[in-house]
Amino acid sequence: MSGRLEKLASEALGELSGASVIEDALQVKTKYLGRKGSVASLLKELGALSPEERKKAGEAINAVKATLEEAFDAKIASIEAAGRAEKLRNERVDITLPGRRVRPGRLHPVTQVMEEIEEIFSGLGFDVAEGPEVELDYYNFEALNLPKDHPARDMQDTFYVNDEVLLRTHTSPVQIRVMEKERPPLRVIAPGTVYRRDSDITHTPMFHQVEGFMVDKGVTFSNLKGVLTHFLHSLFGEKTEIRFRPSFFPFTEPSAEIDIRCVMCNGSGCRVCKGSGWLEILGAGMIHPEVFRSVKYDPEEYTGFAFGLGIERIAMLKYGIEDIRMFFENDLRFLRQF
Ligand code: DAH
Repeated sequence: MSGRLEKLASEALGELSGASVIEDALQVKTKYLGRKGSVASLLKELGALSPEERKKAGEAINAVKATLEEAFDAKIASIEAAGRAEKLRNERVDITLPGRRVRPGRLHPVTQVMEEIEEIFSGLGFDVAEGPEVELDYYNFEALNLPKDHPARDMQDTFYVNDEVLLRTHTSPVQIRVMEKERPPLRVIAPGTVYRRDSDITHTPMFHQVEGFMVDKGVTFSNLKGVLTHFLHSLFGEKTEIRFRPSFFPFTEPSAEIDIRCVMCNGSGCRVCKGSGWLEILGAGMIHPEVFRSVKYDPEEYTGFAFGLGIERIAMLKYGIEDIRMFFENDLRFLRQF
């Protein structure tokens, strides 16, 4: 009996060590320890033995049974542990794999240019002001030295709400609103939306302007030249050639228009500059004494300069965009380029 027992134990352990999956281990376990297994049939033989031998053999069988049970349990536990380890290895996240990219939104090119302009002027100590888009005729025209019958009103194709109310045609009325409320010294820019009845590849009924003005005792045309030269050099590059040209605006005297060398052809003449080699960028001038009178500033005491520019036009020149309408079509293929 003890010889067979030993052989059985060593066979069982041998088979067990060959098992690499739980099913195999369980199969070996059933074969040896199951109800109809080898150990059970040995136990059945005990009945034929004398009481003395039965006790000895029974103890020996039970000892082998316990050893095998322990071995099986250990084996199963180790297969399970190996399986878990393998699973963890396979499920490990490969952090070197590039993630799925989130496409961040971005600012509209008009907003970007607007912010760039604001940044340049805040570097010069200018504050930012805003005014209403639905404006009174008084602020949009009259207080800016454009009385009702003034021919220059025709320059701006106005959307009227009624005789006295309109959509502002420019940001210049913000000059009046700020000066009515505050006293010099003033350094202010006023970005915003303006409206004109006009639509083609360089005009849209709604567009954006930035107005700027500076008022104090002793502000001169040289200050205007210095500030606007610095501004244009910051925006288009230090080497950009600039030209001041006499012009007319009812709210400034003297008035000027300011050109830069054509950024498309560098001055040799092209479609964008219509062969002139220059691009008109800014309207400007010394604030008209009549404008000061309408806000009750004494024109003998204060002088100032003002300027205005169109933001879409700047953005078109900066980025080489030929059709202004692209800004307002909301085509992501266009917008994502900025
Ligand atoms: N308001 C003018 C326009 O819309 C631009 C302008 C010209 C503004 C001269 C000014 C200025 O402040 O001084 O065409």
